[in-house]
Amino acid sequence: MDAKNGTAAKQRPGAQHGPGAQQARKIHAHVTGWGRYVPSQVLSNADLERMVDTNDEWIVTRTGIRERRVAAADETTASMGAVAALRAIHAAGISPKDIDLILLATLTPDYWMPSTAALVKEAIGNDKAAAMDVAAACSGFVYGFATAQAWIESGLAKHVLVIGAELLTRFLDYTDRGTCILFGDGAGAAVLSASTEPGGALGIELTTEPQGAYMIWLPAGGAKSPPSAETIARGEHYIRMEGKETYRFATKTLASTALESVRKSGLQPDDIRLFIPHQANIRIIEAVAKGLDLPMDRMFTNVDKYGNTSAASVPIAMAEAVNEGHVEVGDRITIVAFGAGFTSGAVTIEWTADPARGQAADAAIDPSDVHVRLPVDWDSVDPIPPALAELMNRPGSVDVPLDDVVPGEPQTVSRV
Ligand code: UT7
Repeated sequence: MDAKNGTAAKQRPGAQHGPGAQQARKIHAHVTGWGRYVPSQVLSNADLERMVDTNDEWIVTRTGIRERRVAAADETTASMGAVAALRAIHAAGISPKDIDLILLATLTPDYWMPSTAALVKEAIGNDKAAAMDVAAACSGFVYGFATAQAWIESGLAKHVLVIGAELLTRFLDYTDRGTCILFGDGAGAAVLSASTEPGGALGIELTTEPQGAYMIWLPAGGAKSPPSAETIARGEHYIRMEGKETYRFATKTLASTALESVRKSGLQPDDIRLFIPHQANIRIIEAVAKGLDLPMDRMFTNVDKYGNTSAASVPIAMAEAVNEGHVEVGDRITIVAFGAGFTSGAVTIEWTADPARGQAADAAIDPSDVHVRLPVDWDSVDPIPPALAELMNRPGSVDVPLDDVVPGEPQTVSRV
């Protein structure tokens, strides 16, 4: 790869003219780095049984979720995103200063403004990148990835950092069993780098179907319904979802979106080593496998451990799939997501990076070394929702499964 030699911008398509000019070589966007971060605190189905009228058996059979992660009070979307980002940058073998563009996909930004991407830019020590957030809900990482690919292929950027980061547990109504059991917190990231070597990101398929606009939404806080005592009293600052309608859309669209991306890559589903779908519900992923006429072992799943982490779900899953040895150099993989909007997106990728770099990057970046600058003279109220705080404050400790702990993170966490 020549990504580090600075040749990409010089070989921009169309840059050379005249009869004697050599044909410019196409620039490809390769995934050179990947990383993830999940908070240590585990919220199990048994914990939820103590909060709402639900039970482990219902949650597991209807969703496949066994537990999810909850960010600590001092963690934010930006802080989680910055850890995942630094791991991805380390895996790519570049400096944070080499990044030209930062795209952060989230539906739970730290603030309405500035962008969470801007906070991450400062936290990782980059001083030149353009930085912006991507609002496409659970499809956000795939939308960001496709945008990064376009920037690289057009010669606008050599290295793009794409992050999916979510702190959903602060936007859940813990009296609504239809939503609060589904979501969790975390972040994942990828670095895309320019190269004239073939491979990397291939066919893109993105769709938006606004008839589903109010199927998953957060009613208040925006310009249509600014925050007020009334909107808070009515619980309109929490995520609402029509589960059944969303389920129908997801099962209809995920396989067709993935298929379109595979076809645009000149491939067939059987050519794909691993599909990495949005981790919303195991039944939805099973429907995708059925729709593509493939066995479940071609679908990567970790929904049992993290629940639905929205825009973070695909990059967390991609990082785990690679680090756990499910992807090798030369494999084709397809990332595919759906979400509020309704949005849906897929990109097929020919993997070209050494998978071993991901684990080394996890070990190299210690989350306690990563800091997001706080506002001066301003105290936030306790960010943990009261129902969750009550549960977390009960005596006792929660064991974090040791095989699921990223090196450098605490291995157990106490609720006291
Ligand atoms: O990233 C995109 C975000 N969203 C999604 O992907 C969600 C897509 N939808 C889903 O995954 C499913 O629709 C859910 C998991 C949300 C719900 O599963 P379902 O099989 O569609 O259940 P349902 O909504 O039809 O509810 C069946 C029953 C109802 O009781 P009755 O009316 O039959 O007596 C619900 O009240 O299950 C009840 N129920 C629960 N019971 C125990 C709903 N939530 C729960 C719960 N625990 N947490």
